[in-house]
Amino acid sequence: MVSYKELGLVNSRDMFAKAVKGGYAIPAYNFNNMEQLQAIIQACVETRSPVILQVSKGARDYANINLLRNMARGATEYAKELGYEIPIVLHLDHGDSFETCKDCIDNGFSSVMIDGSHLPYEENIAVTKKVVEYAHKFDVTVEGELGVLAGIEDDVVAETSHYTKPEEVIDFVSRTGVDSLAISIGTSHGANKFTPEQCTRNADGVLIPPPLRFDILKEIEDKLPGFPIVLHGSSSVPVEFVKMINEHGGKLKDSVGIPEEQLRQAAKSAVCKINIDSDGRLAMTGTIRRVFDEKPGEFDPRKYLGPARDALKKMYMHKNEEVLGSAGKA
Ligand code: 13P
Repeated sequence: MVSYKELGLVNSRDMFAKAVKGGYAIPAYNFNNMEQLQAIIQACVETRSPVILQVSKGARDYANINLLRNMARGATEYAKELGYEIPIVLHLDHGDSFETCKDCIDNGFSSVMIDGSHLPYEENIAVTKKVVEYAHKFDVTVEGELGVLAGIEDDVVAETSHYTKPEEVIDFVSRTGVDSLAISIGTSHGANKFTPEQCTRNADGVLIPPPLRFDILKEIEDKLPGFPIVLHGSSSVPVEFVKMINEHGGKLKDSVGIPEEQLRQAAKSAVCKINIDSDGRLAMTGTIRRVFDEKPGEFDPRKYLGPARDALKKMYMHKNEEVLGSAGKA
């Protein structure tokens, strides 16, 4: 058993309490390699932002849990070396079973998500409660989910979404004991969050997605005053990255994300954790494609992963400062 406390990590409890009170959201950025982690830590230290490092089940399979845990330990030391200590959480994203969550808790994660949102309601409650009982013995915080997000993310695939039912949230939270609740109000995983038919187009032909359901968020907030709410599927799919990818040989079609203004509005509410993965993938891929295109003779990975890391860092700084409001809160 490795405790996250030995690794210099913290759980999400205090972070969320401050974020809900302060009207901002903590960035939850996914990582599975060194350059992503460096970019996240550099950006969060420079902007003085707390951060949640997210590892999905796919990332665990890709990178190995021992390596990831030690990377997170390294990240806490790296942040100090950069000159400013920020609170860092190591979080399991979309845990699919009690066993996966337990394995992460036993391996130094400070926070886990048990995603039973696809299960019948009573089964979601049962598995979430079991994870909470185990996690709380070690002061690890737990995120549950009600409602289903559409889209594709690693192993999580759902063709259709259904919104969280506000009438279920009090019962779910009180019977499971979760520390935070992910909800579905119209966000979606991946870089193609909506079909063109679900969107309108502006004069330039850019897809405009349907607005988030702030009415549902408000009903949930009224039922659970001050309780930490989480938004998954919150990449904005910036047009400049999609353009960069497509100008350098990529073929991304009809990509669309969640507009930044809507995320900013959500961050001011009880939404205190916002999950962003796809935007990082787009920034890295666009930059690497550009280097390959412009310098076809280049074969040193540092010469394309380095610029990709710089692009990622810039993007994360922008999110912390202009979208989530977490800059200056560490
Ligand atoms: P995006 O695909 O919108 O980045 O969402 C990531 C996410 O929700 C991770 O859990």
